[in-house]
Amino acid sequence: MQDTFILNTMKADVLLGLQWGDEGKGKVVDVLTPRYDVIARFQGGPNAGHTLEFEGIKHVLHTIPSGIFHPGKVNVIGNGVVIDPVVFKKEIDALAQRGVDVKKNLFISRKAHLILPTHRLLDAASEASKGTAKIGSTLKGIGPAYMDKTGRNGLRIGDLEHPQFRKMYDTLVAKHTELLAHYEYDYNLEDLEPAFFEGVELIKQLKLIDSEYRLNQYLDEGKAILAEGAQGSLLDIDFGSYPFVTSSHTITAGTCIGLGLAPGKIGEVYGIFKAYCTRVGSGPFPTELNDATGEELRAKGHEFGATTGRPRRCGWLDLPALKYAIMLNGVTQLIMMKSDVLSGFDKIKVCTQYKYRGEIIDHVPYDVVNEEIVPVYEEMKGWSEDLMVINDAEQLPAALLSYIDYIEQATGLPITIVSVGPDRKQTLIRKVVA
Ligand code: GDP
Ligand code: IMO
Ligand code: MG
Repeated sequence: MQDTFILNTMKADVLLGLQWGDEGKGKVVDVLTPRYDVIARFQGGPNAGHTLEFEGIKHVLHTIPSGIFHPGKVNVIGNGVVIDPVVFKKEIDALAQRGVDVKKNLFISRKAHLILPTHRLLDAASEASKGTAKIGSTLKGIGPAYMDKTGRNGLRIGDLEHPQFRKMYDTLVAKHTELLAHYEYDYNLEDLEPAFFEGVELIKQLKLIDSEYRLNQYLDEGKAILAEGAQGSLLDIDFGSYPFVTSSHTITAGTCIGLGLAPGKIGEVYGIFKAYCTRVGSGPFPTELNDATGEELRAKGHEFGATTGRPRRCGWLDLPALKYAIMLNGVTQLIMMKSDVLSGFDKIKVCTQYKYRGEIIDHVPYDVVNEEIVPVYEEMKGWSEDLMVINDAEQLPAALLSYIDYIEQATGLPITIVSVGPDRKQTLIRKVVA
């Protein structure tokens, strides 16, 4: 039989974080962009801080895809993203100062939701009311904006084109004002609104599209798409350590929802992880090190949030959590970041299992919030070489190659890229996977 029924469309590759965010997604998306035509963000919003470094410049992106520095590449903000016009305008202004004009190559889904100033206020008021039980949110209004989306009250980018937008805005703000009255929280909305409406005016000048149609059309035309995740799999609304999570689907399935791509249109899934672990904000973190080693990881890795500047909690690599994320995402290849930060430790520990309710387990159990989870560690030999100057994966120290081999064996996946510094160039490609 002839294979006339086989559609020869391209598939979209996905790059996403396998831990609690800040794995280095921005850096690697920037490195991989030359292989793609289109880079698309599918979820999250200004809670993300994606850092890129090249030619002595360090740049942090929040809403805009990390392909933006490559001239001629299309960058799409998908329907699953939530956009704060205030942060967005600042990002665009900062890019303009670097000579990047987003007007040509940045496209925004009309179905992406807006973060209003009152969403930010609600986020802050809710966190303040929780006291020590707070989520540790980035206070960017993410939770309240997604609540309005699922509660079917939200405003979308497409509404900005509506002649009655101001009325729609006022109606939603009136609802928010009622909610805010339930908190003891002082605010002055009038101070916040001018920047919001300035941002709105800027967005209206950009290219607003029906991105689901556009992206599927790109695939039909044979264009290569890379979907860029934000946050990390362990912050996923369903599978993260609920309630200490973000409000979106951070896993591969979120790509389908957040871009309008059918599951069969997903190709490679690059799972990116740090050679150790970090977490910012509250919530369980089994391998967290509240000691001098944790301090050393934070200092060497400059582990301070790209969005909030908060110190990141640090700990050893957690294999049960990593394998959980690999399973949820259908990862096809791994990317290991910040290997250079582990240089100089005599011993490196890897958590291979958990002690939970008196048993040794290999999986991430349901209750990670109230129950104690004690990591079971395997100790490995460290290395002392400065990796930042290495430019060939073959020359990595033997102890690091054993660490890599160990993780590959444990996960059953190849580590195809090893990152040895923040710069674009400090990226070692190990194996090319077809
Ligand atoms: P993202 O949110 O996943 O894009 O990651 P962030 O930008 O929030 O955090 C990663 C941080 O690590 C940034 O400051 C990067 O510049 C830096 N970084 C990325 N890769 C490496 C690496 O291999 N080594 C070192 N030392 N720093 C890295
Ligand atoms: P990138 O894309 C690390 C964390 C917050 C908090 C929780 C909920 O840079 O990896 P939210 O503001 O989303 O309601 O906060 O999620 N968080 C992140 N942690 N990296 C991020 O993004 C994060 N985005 C949110 O610290 O614990
Ligand atoms: Mg980040």
